[in-house]
Amino acid sequence: MRMVELIEKKKLGSELSKEEISWMIEQYSQKEIPDYQMSAFLMSVYFQGMTDEEVNGLTFAMAHSGDVIDLSGIEGIKVDKHSTGGVGDTTTLVLAPLVASVGVPVAKMSGRGLGHTGGTIDKFEAIKGFDVEMSEEKFIQSVNDIGVAVVGQSANLAPADKLLYALRDVTATVDSMPLIASSIMSKKIASGADAIVLDVTTGEGAFMKDVEDAKKLAHIMVRLGNLAKRKTVAVISDMSQPLGEAIGNSLEILEALDVLKGGGPDDLREMVLVLGSQMLILAGKTTSTEVSRQLLEEAIASGKALEKFREMVENQGGDSSFIESPELLMTANYQFELPAKTSGVVTKLVADKIGVAAMLLGAGRKTKEDSIDFGVGLILHKKVGDIVEVGESLVTIYSNSENIEEVKNLLYENIKIGDKAVEPPLIHAVITD
Ligand code: URA
Ligand code: CA
Repeated sequence: MRMVELIEKKKLGSELSKEEISWMIEQYSQKEIPDYQMSAFLMSVYFQGMTDEEVNGLTFAMAHSGDVIDLSGIEGIKVDKHSTGGVGDTTTLVLAPLVASVGVPVAKMSGRGLGHTGGTIDKFEAIKGFDVEMSEEKFIQSVNDIGVAVVGQSANLAPADKLLYALRDVTATVDSMPLIASSIMSKKIASGADAIVLDVTTGEGAFMKDVEDAKKLAHIMVRLGNLAKRKTVAVISDMSQPLGEAIGNSLEILEALDVLKGGGPDDLREMVLVLGSQMLILAGKTTSTEVSRQLLEEAIASGKALEKFREMVENQGGDSSFIESPELLMTANYQFELPAKTSGVVTKLVADKIGVAAMLLGAGRKTKEDSIDFGVGLILHKKVGDIVEVGESLVTIYSNSENIEEVKNLLYENIKIGDKAVEPPLIHAVITD
């Protein structure tokens, strides 16, 4: 086989065989295919798309390009949850202990931030001592002992995807549906879960700006999961405005803590209940979303979920004293308010731009080499549909620098105040096939 022939084929819109795709992924992983040829191939995929068979072949080849984790040492049905990306998405921090607290094992491998805000693993690292690196044995042992562990992805999980993602990032080929679907599902399949709940986001803060595209992507991923014998469900959720009120690593830990204590923002709590219910159903714990919700709400009300969170933090070496003393995590040197310049109703909070504002403060990475400043970030006081009076604070900015003009301007530009707002629905659809 010759790579140039495969590029030619894709360029003209013909279908590649499973053998051709796995050969290409293998050769690329071994650096036998140069980046310039793979770049041309990716761009052809961007324009020509891929058939179901091709996406499945690509997913399988990338999933098997490195370690495939064996979780059979953990009893019960292991359900994973994955979001296609958002701003201020605090759900995993709540879901992991919550779902574990009702007796469903959670063995979660998470990533660091890909875009402008920190990933789940970065957020957990805001807790002093919290260790996200553990051996596969300790990981399995932890889930068997206390029902939950959250760790960083092992370096050798779908390494072909890592190489391809880095190349896509610099060749303007990230936003291709077959490439996104295969990238995400290859990692999910390699992580060893029996079932997968996908949170496919849509809106300005998501890859899929349009709901119909998000549904299409969800269908592709659900099909890929089911073909790999992992029961998969996708929830299409809104990410036109950030989820919850906190954006930033420590701030999101505290927001998760609020939800586990029975409070927290309504949209975050609702998201957690919707995704958690699907996880319980896939795990075979219940057969209905109503019963699932009830179980989850009880676990929060009784304090069981919060206790599981404490157990999880301590099991991973973290200092849990912030649970009683949240101010321990408030480490930013400065707090600034952002007063509204006019009265009216909030019509828009442009999620991705607000994510960039948090990144500029240091809550996310500009480049892979950057380190994260855990204490900084934003607390949104107004969401779409809320009424504001001139002078009222829209946002509290937590910063370690006094020089925040750029951040303030960016926030003003992306928090729109008008006469009338259309509140976006939080959940657009649930896709099961
Ligand atoms: N997340 C991934 O892991 N891969 C993509 O291609 C997009 C989002
Ligand atoms: Ca949040």
